[in-house]
Amino acid sequence: MRMILVGPPGAGKGTQAARLIDTYRIPHISSGDMLRAAVKDATALGLEADRFMKAGQLVPDAVVIGMILERIRKPDCEQGFMLDGFPRTRPQAQALDAALTAAKVTLDAVVLLEVPDQLIVDRITGRRSDPDTGTIYHLVFSPPPLELLPRLVHRKDDTVEAVTTRLAKYHSETAPIIPFYADKQILRRVDGVGEPDIVTTRVIAALDAVLVP
Ligand code: AP5
Ligand code: MG
Repeated sequence: MRMILVGPPGAGKGTQAARLIDTYRIPHISSGDMLRAAVKDATALGLEADRFMKAGQLVPDAVVIGMILERIRKPDCEQGFMLDGFPRTRPQAQALDAALTAAKVTLDAVVLLEVPDQLIVDRITGRRSDPDTGTIYHLVFSPPPLELLPRLVHRKDDTVEAVTTRLAKYHSETAPIIPFYADKQILRRVDGVGEPDIVTTRVIAALDAVLVP
């Protein structure tokens, strides 16, 4: 299964990916997580990416395309992968398409998690992540165990100001890739509103329809 999870900030891409990788046994490749790891390690890539990410701006295409294409060429991606947060511009989608064509493989599905803008700010500002396990919580919607609270982190780009920019970037830069995948007939729209378990059931139903047409 080669698939992409796409959706606005806070749509639940990371939350759903964590639940789906056991079902599909493919690596979860999050461009945001890879960039945050590079920032933490203060690599050259991380230092360049940090100023864009903090402001809610997109990291330049050339940087992200190189990082992801290198990642999906690794042996653990031979049987498939789940991309989260990439592609999010037309040039990224075209670069991925060209790389997959050159490798003679095809994408099976692009799952679009649909969540209205007015729900996004609450989801983002209440998010807390566990740096040790990667688990994503929400102070209200997925409350963490109390004993974990002191070690949970609040992302630097999870401010109201940055999320407003991220949402605007989603609509101007990322939404235009949706017709690109709709034309290829691999786009699956999934309602991302509701309990995370219900959303997972919807995503699996959409993917089952792809695997067993
Ligand atoms: P990235 O890390 O990809 O951020 P994003 O796309 O803005 O998405 P998020 O991770 O914020 O949200 P999510 O959909 O994963 O939601 P989550 O499951 O955590 O990118 C960050 C930055 O890196 C970008 O702004 C850019 O600077 C850079 N970048 C990354 N990729 C790039 C690329 N390809 N090109 C250029 N730049 C790039 O859930 C959010 C919250 O909601 C959580 O608290 C969760 O508990 C809660 N929640 C989840 N599901 C539900 C539900 N069903 N009901 C209620 N609450 C829910
Ligand atoms: Mg995420």
